[in-house]
Amino acid sequence: MVKNGIFIVLEGLDGSGKTTQAKILAQRLSESYSTYLTAEPSCGKIGTFIRECCLYEQMRLPIEAEALLFAADRIEHMQAELKPALEQGKLVICDRYLYSSLAYQGNSGLSLDWIKTINARALQPDFSVFLDVPPERVLERLRRKKSVMETLEVQRRVREVYLKFVAKGELIRVDGDKSREVVADGLYAKVLEMLRCAKRLGCS
Ligand code: TYD
Repeated sequence: MVKNGIFIVLEGLDGSGKTTQAKILAQRLSESYSTYLTAEPSCGKIGTFIRECCLYEQMRLPIEAEALLFAADRIEHMQAELKPALEQGKLVICDRYLYSSLAYQGNSGLSLDWIKTINARALQPDFSVFLDVPPERVLERLRRKKSVMETLEVQRRVREVYLKFVAKGELIRVDGDKSREVVADGLYAKVLEMLRCAKRLGCS
C-alpha cells in the first residue's frame, strides 16, 4: 500500500470528551488538510455487532472473544475506510484504535502481547493521543445507561494501561480535564506540533 496520508488516533476513557474533541479537531484541521473522521468500533458488520451485542453485561462474551472481535473489526475498518482514505492522501482521525483494545481488553489480565499479536496486521498510526481525564470525572459526566466498561474500577484500570503507554512514549498525553475550548486548543496545538515534526522528518 502506498500510504500518502496521515493517520492520527485519539484515545481516552468513556465520557472523556474524546468524540467531541475528535470532531472539533477534524473541523479545524480541515482548513489545511483533506480530513476523514472515523471511529472504532466501526460502522461495518463486525463493529455494528460489537455495539449491539457485546457491550452490556447480560451479553458479555469471554474476554478473548471480545478482543478477537475488536481486532476483526479493525481489519474490516482498515480495508473499508482507513486504507482508501490514506491512499487518497487524507488526514485520518480515528476515535479509538489499537490502544483501546490494549487498555480495555488488556486491563483485566489478558496478555498485552497477545492483543498486539492478533492486531499485528492493523495499520500503524502516525500518532496516538491519549486525552486524559480522571476516572471520577468521566463517571460524573456519563448520565446515559452505562455499558459494562463504565464503572469506576474498570475506568481506573483502563487509565493505568493508557498511562503505561504514555510513559513508554507510544501515546502522547493531552490534559482533557479542562473546559471544552481549552482542551480543543491544547489538542490542536499538540497535533500541529506533531505534524510539523513529521514534515521535518520527511514522514508526510
Ligand atoms: P465509544 O465509541 O467510546 O463509545 P460510545 O460510542 O458509546 O461513546 O466505544 C464503545 C466502547 O467500546 C468503549 O467502552 C470502549 C470499547 N472498546 C473496547 O473495549 N476495545 C476496543 O478495541 C475498542 C475500539 C473499543
